[in-house]
Amino acid sequence: MNRHLISAGDLTRDDALLILDTAEELARVSERSIKKLPTLRGRTVVNLFFEDSTRTRISFEAAAKRLSADVINFSAKGSSVSKGESLKDTALTLEAMGADAVVIRHGSSGAPHRLANWVHGSVVNAGDGTHEHPTQALLDAFSMRRRLGSLDGRRITIVGDVLHSRVARSNVLLLHTLGAEVTLVAPPTLLPVSVDTWPCAVSYDLDGVLPKSDAVMMLRVQKERMNAAYFPSEREYSRRYGLDRDRFAKLPEEAIVMHPGPMNRGMEIAAEVADSPRSTIVEQVANGVTIRMAVLYLLLGGEIA
Ligand code: CP
Repeated sequence: MNRHLISAGDLTRDDALLILDTAEELARVSERSIKKLPTLRGRTVVNLFFEDSTRTRISFEAAAKRLSADVINFSAKGSSVSKGESLKDTALTLEAMGADAVVIRHGSSGAPHRLANWVHGSVVNAGDGTHEHPTQALLDAFSMRRRLGSLDGRRITIVGDVLHSRVARSNVLLLHTLGAEVTLVAPPTLLPVSVDTWPCAVSYDLDGVLPKSDAVMMLRVQKERMNAAYFPSEREYSRRYGLDRDRFAKLPEEAIVMHPGPMNRGMEIAAEVADSPRSTIVEQVANGVTIRMAVLYLLLGGEIA
């Protein structure tokens, strides 16, 4: 494994399988009455969040604490960033406090890559702009593997706002590495120009793709990143690309429904579909803690007790 986790594309198949297998082992530990391991005692993990987060921030904190690391949570709101302090100076200040790993979420694509040049510890990308979110892709792969078994040859459909989605890019890269066949379905306006170079297929026909899918992952429509009209109306988007009850019925019986969260219920996914037993949305959140434990454990070189 590299010292940093910046892109899902940096992971070899062996790296990815090592993380997933380590997470399986740690999940078994998490079933014990005492969940805490002494593995990272004396190590410090800094969570550096310049953008809002619920799942990622809390699960990295929970993961580090379960491994007995000291955790420093930094949120740009209320910090000296509002006085104009740069990312580099913020990072060097936190490193001076003894960070062994820095987990960063930032609105600018490439910020974790820059950070990795400035600090001595490991850098983990917790979401950078519209670029990547590798631990989300790992927890998604872990969730799929637990429900479907091996991902080799599995057909995974990712639907919605691919243009603004760091989750989609990381998932396409990782799922391809793990042998799955990925199809993106989106309005043409919500696909990046470079999608032709991604290792996946593209379709505009959701109803045609669903019956051939082992898993369908719905993406949030990221209204906060939209500075133009990408579709005529929310109603029209939902009618063409939303997963409602009728579309859900087109999936094979064993297929699962995923969403990285947060969801726009009633827009990209109907509430009854999100809450169905074939939805893994809550499992994905729980698996996020386990995967992030595995990543911190492997990057910081702990040993499972
Ligand atoms: N999926 C995800 O990254 O959620 P948060 O923005 O709540 O961390």
